[in-house]
Amino acid sequence: MRHFLEVDDLNITELRRVLELSAEPNSPKVLDGKGVALIFEKPSGRTRNSMEMAVVQLGGHPIYITPEELGIDSRETAEDVVRVMAGYHTVLAARVFDHSRLERMAATDAMPVINLLSDVAHPMQALADLLTIEQEIGLSDVGRVAYVGDANNVWRSLAIGCSMLSIATAVASPPGHGPNPVEVDRVLASGGSLLVTNDPQEAVEGADVVYTDVWTSMGQESEKEQRLDAFANFRVDAALMSGASERGIFMHCLPAHRGEEVSGEVIESSRSKVFPQAHNRMHSARGLLSWLVGKEMER
Ligand code: CP
Ligand code: NVA
Repeated sequence: MRHFLEVDDLNITELRRVLELSAEPNSPKVLDGKGVALIFEKPSGRTRNSMEMAVVQLGGHPIYITPEELGIDSRETAEDVVRVMAGYHTVLAARVFDHSRLERMAATDAMPVINLLSDVAHPMQALADLLTIEQEIGLSDVGRVAYVGDANNVWRSLAIGCSMLSIATAVASPPGHGPNPVEVDRVLASGGSLLVTNDPQEAVEGADVVYTDVWTSMGQESEKEQRLDAFANFRVDAALMSGASERGIFMHCLPAHRGEEVSGEVIESSRSKVFPQAHNRMHSARGLLSWLVGKEMER
């Protein structure tokens, strides 16, 4: 049974196939008459709506489930939740605080499990990011993808996805907020190159994509003040963007905090592709679901 907890749960051929399916607007209705359980332990605008609409486009019925009604690991174990849901639904997708909860769910092999964001990965976002890079620049042509800011869940999945497609990446973070050696090895193991630096200008130099995300992720709210200080020199503003290539675009998974990780000028500029990127969440969700359900039907 296949699960999608991180981008490298796909091999390179499968990743390319998912991106192809994402670009296909009239997908076969592989979810006709079937349910998809969507569990959210944290808030979501893009992920919930894009997943629900992707399920509908594939003929299925999405059910949004709050953690309160399930009581995962309090009312019943995460493993029991999945084994029960497998009787009603074809796929279970969850946004969780603790990635190990997703791993435990997937380990039951009761049904395919999709990561809708955890503390360590956001692979559904990375699919939309790659689709956007393909549309805006071309995956076979794109030069460096530079990520400025916190080496968080969004960075990890993006870096792994780029690496699998042999796209060079760079990450610039303040000391203590960059990738650890294990993470660097995992990115490099996927086949690409990775520049790790504390200097945003160095990372952005000549880049075709400049990407950032919030400095304080969901669950880190108590660190907000300290993070505002630590990341103060890592804002993507017009001066930093001027180091990118002439065709360089700006990307952000959203939600964005103007005046923190990105200036209002940059996010509103013609280089900014954040809304096509957000809209691609639905297309890439449809592509991933089509592929995953197709794999399930082959078994
Ligand atoms: N980018 C993203 O995952 O947005 P939401 O948190 O609104 O789903
Ligand atoms: N890194 C952010 C992404 C939100 C889509 C978070 O985890 O809150």
